[in-house]
Amino acid sequence: MNPLLSSLQPYPFERLKQLFSTVTPNPAYAPISLGIGEPRHATPQLVLDALAKATAQLAAYPATAGLPALRESCVNWMQRRYGLKLDAATQVLPVNGSREALFAFAQTVIDPTRDAVVVCPNPFYQIYEGAALLAGAQTYYAPSDPALNFNVNWDSVPAEVWAKTQLLFVCSPGNPTGAVMPMSDWEKLFALSDKYGFVIASDECYSEIYFREEAPLGGLEAATKLGRTDFKNLVAFTSLSKRSNVPGMRSGFVAGDANILKQFLLYRTYHGSAMSGMVQAASIAAWDDEAHVVDNREQYRQKFAAVTPLLEAVMDVRLPDAGFYLWAAVPGGDDVAFARDLLAQYNVTVLPGSYLAREAQGFNPGAGRIRMALVAETAECLEAAQRIVAFIKNTHS
Ligand SMILES: Cc1ncc(COP(=O)(O)O)c(C=O)c1O
Repeated sequence: MNPLLSSLQPYPFERLKQLFSTVTPNPAYAPISLGIGEPRHATPQLVLDALAKATAQLAAYPATAGLPALRESCVNWMQRRYGLKLDAATQVLPVNGSREALFAFAQTVIDPTRDAVVVCPNPFYQIYEGAALLAGAQTYYAPSDPALNFNVNWDSVPAEVWAKTQLLFVCSPGNPTGAVMPMSDWEKLFALSDKYGFVIASDECYSEIYFREEAPLGGLEAATKLGRTDFKNLVAFTSLSKRSNVPGMRSGFVAGDANILKQFLLYRTYHGSAMSGMVQAASIAAWDDEAHVVDNREQYRQKFAAVTPLLEAVMDVRLPDAGFYLWAAVPGGDDVAFARDLLAQYNVTVLPGSYLAREAQGFNPGAGRIRMALVAETAECLEAAQRIVAFIKNTHS
């Protein structure tokens, strides 16, 4: 067996299952889960129609590089969304959702024969950690800072860590914080990448769900604005799962540094991660349409506008920049006890923030917070919020 497998940590939901194993939820309430961040708005009909029309594609093996038409769709979307001019032949690659791509990317980029470090934000999407460990690297966790709108203070990472860093994961908009990384941070990270030679993987899968006027800044957009049009050492990861409510379709793409994508394509060819032709056809329909994305964003905006003020009255929480999570501080400061007791008394599931982060530099930056995924319909999210308000009033005042 690969000994590195034993370095993997239990997934947050396994820990939650363990925590809840001794809890009997109050049967007076129907269960509501704000736990899993799985989109639940309706899948657009145009995607379903395109899938149904493409069944003939099942008769052929798809190419790992994807259909030229899909690559064109991806490039055209990047042009409309970020004003970028990418080369469809060399600067984009379809992937089966960003999760597998983030994992596979670490296996492609990391050289474990040197003392490799991967820098992750903390809290973070756990795939970054598993990808780094299985590639033979060590992880360094850079804490999210509430004083910086939950962005990471990149100056807090010591120079000796940067010197060994081969890969940096950036997540903007962030899961679970919803923070969008500002241009000044991009500038800083590009300078560090130039100095130390590491690759930046920019996870942007929540980019289309946002609450401010301005759409979140993308990594390639930031690079272009700074004149880095070759996207040296930068690859962005995007996905249809949240944008188009198709988490089961497994479709996204990566874009950026052509030299890296060439190696990534080579890795993926052996790994066997070509996207089904049927899914490619449906993906083209999804990337080419923006109306359903605008509608989806509006649904989240209305939901967050209804739910957030209720919770703001009883806990430290506010509308995030983007994403579909509320990242709230719990009264009393014990996120695990809060999640356990809330389930017991009101049958609402939330995720303890400490399960989404690691203790590093002497503290766990997720501790004392919970993540609430507002993916259900507004009425259900409102009902959950009302129960949380009652729970806090009963137990913490
Ligand atoms: C931060 C982050 N990145 C990537 C993913 C993976 O999404 P997908 O593989 O559906 O594109 C998720 C899913 O929840 C996520 O939260």
